[in-house]
Amino acid sequence: MSNEKEIGKAFDFGLFKRVFEFTKPYRLIFYGVAFSAILLSAFAIFTPFIVKEIINSALPSNSLNQLVTLIWLMAAVLFGQVFFQLFFNYYANLLGESVIKDIRIRLFEKMMSFKMTYFDKSSIGVLVTRAVADMQRIGEIFSQGFFVIVADVLKMISGAIAMIYFSWKLALIVFAVLPVILIATRLFQQAMKVAFIEVRAQVANLNSFVQERIAGMKIVQLFNREEIEKEKFRTINEKHQNAWLKTVWYNSIFFPVAEISYSLGIGLVVYFGVIQNIDAMQENNIGTIVAFFFLMDLLFRPLRQIADKFNTLQMGMVAANRVFKILDTESHISDEGQLEKTNIKGGIKFADVRFGYVKDEEVLHGVSFEVKAGETVAIVGATGAGKSTIINLLNRFYEINSGHIFIDNIDIREYTLRSLRSHIAVVLQNVFLFADTIANNISLKAPSVTLEDIEAAAKQIGVHEFISSLPGGYHYNVKERGTMLSSGQRQLISFLRAYVSNPSILVLDEATSSVDTYSEQLIQQATDKITAGRTSIIIAHRLATIKKADKILVMDAGKVVEMGTHKALLKKGGYYSDLYEAQFLAEEVA
Ligand SMILES: Nc1ncnc2c1ncn2[C@@H]1O[C@H](COP(=O)(O)OP(=O)(O)OP(=O)(O)O)[C@@H](O)[C@H]1O
Ligand SMILES: [Mg+2]
Repeated sequence: MSNEKEIGKAFDFGLFKRVFEFTKPYRLIFYGVAFSAILLSAFAIFTPFIVKEIINSALPSNSLNQLVTLIWLMAAVLFGQVFFQLFFNYYANLLGESVIKDIRIRLFEKMMSFKMTYFDKSSIGVLVTRAVADMQRIGEIFSQGFFVIVADVLKMISGAIAMIYFSWKLALIVFAVLPVILIATRLFQQAMKVAFIEVRAQVANLNSFVQERIAGMKIVQLFNREEIEKEKFRTINEKHQNAWLKTVWYNSIFFPVAEISYSLGIGLVVYFGVIQNIDAMQENNIGTIVAFFFLMDLLFRPLRQIADKFNTLQMGMVAANRVFKILDTESHISDEGQLEKTNIKGGIKFADVRFGYVKDEEVLHGVSFEVKAGETVAIVGATGAGKSTIINLLNRFYEINSGHIFIDNIDIREYTLRSLRSHIAVVLQNVFLFADTIANNISLKAPSVTLEDIEAAAKQIGVHEFISSLPGGYHYNVKERGTMLSSGQRQLISFLRAYVSNPSILVLDEATSSVDTYSEQLIQQATDKITAGRTSIIIAHRLATIKKADKILVMDAGKVVEMGTHKALLKKGGYYSDLYEAQFLAEEVA
């Protein structure tokens, strides 16, 4: 993805229109801002006229009355300018913030609808950037880009017209200086665009570097990588510094050039207007000349900044283009099923299911098995055999390539996604906890689950004591990703989460990490409790769980190789009995 190319495309009218369509709900604000932009340029033009009147008419005629009137008028104009500038700034920002609020909510909604394949392929950092930094850029289209340009252009046009009105000859002389500043502006804008892209790339580098090192700080410290990481960080910082200094450099060249051309204009006006008196103006032309200086400021000042504004506009458009790309992505699991069931029995059947996460790379090669309602099935097998994959398919995180999955003899595609997932509770291999209280992590803020429910459930599966022992009990905040808890404790919390949702089907992907004997006991006890009376699929690593299962499914390399009870499989002397000897025998003897 080349930034240059993106920018080339960024200025198409369709994109512009699409961004502005988001202002529709805020039409009143939109017109208010546009109107105040017009008024601002009108007010700006008043001042030179009043100044001219003061110098050319009020002062020479010694008329105090006229002078006072003009000064009051000047004050009124000033007041109007201040008022409308304030109005303009506030509402342009309000418009920008309102638009990005809407786009951001829509973006988040869209992200929540994406299927897992999308997230497998996307970088978290990039998606976060779209939702935060890019949004800010889009907002700047309104607060610092578009309307400011409109207001500036209006000021420049009315300034130019006023100049021609005062003296077209002097006006032409001033216009003759314009190409200098226009060319300088253009060059500046192009250079800044490239420099900004570099700055942004380096900021992204800094972000992801720091983010990753903080997340992986344990590895950095364990393996004594501090020196190496420091050096790497220094290099990135130097790149960032250089990129930033480049923009400073361009600024330091451009602004003096702009200043010089402005002064050049003033010099020329004084020379031709006063010394040469080319317009053959009357004696008291000094007011006109002073008014000219004001008007020139009106013309040159916006010109100096317009390059910046255009960059802001352009960067906003680039950001909008990226965000719209996500909004236009169609990547959700088809939800065409109609069936809404409040109750299911929980019989599960896989019939010749074939599936691969990536095209042409099949992971499950025709998996078939059946779990009767209320049964507990343990799935065992080597790492990478496809055990977790089965869970991913059961709740339709991914679409299968061929075959069927049935629940209560109905293909799962016939249920609505909502209904399907409401009957299945999953305890994932890697427990995820939100940075929130234990209670909220268990109920996931479901309004139907009260603290009493949670406590009762915790008592039933035997984890109430452990939670009560934490500071604050159920209100204990587990912080980012639950780092304040041990992995066994996290597992217990996620058990409780599954338990309170009271599903007909429970799926449990046991963590491979071993926990201490006490937690082990707690987990075993909790497992027994939560599987009782419902269909359960347990991807099991603990012998105790496996032995209690009604049926064991042995998987190897994407296939079910054996099926049966612990005893029957041992007797058979196949894959399972080998596995048992290698892994569990020692455990059992001990
Ligand atoms: N999101 C994914 N994208 C692509 N390939 C994946 C993805 N998840 C798993 N795989 C691949 O699918 C295969 C089966 O993975 P799976 O997670 O089902 O194994 P598992 O039996 O649960 O292993 P473990 O016991 O280590 O948890 C592996 O080869 C893995 O590389
Ligand atoms: Mg797994």
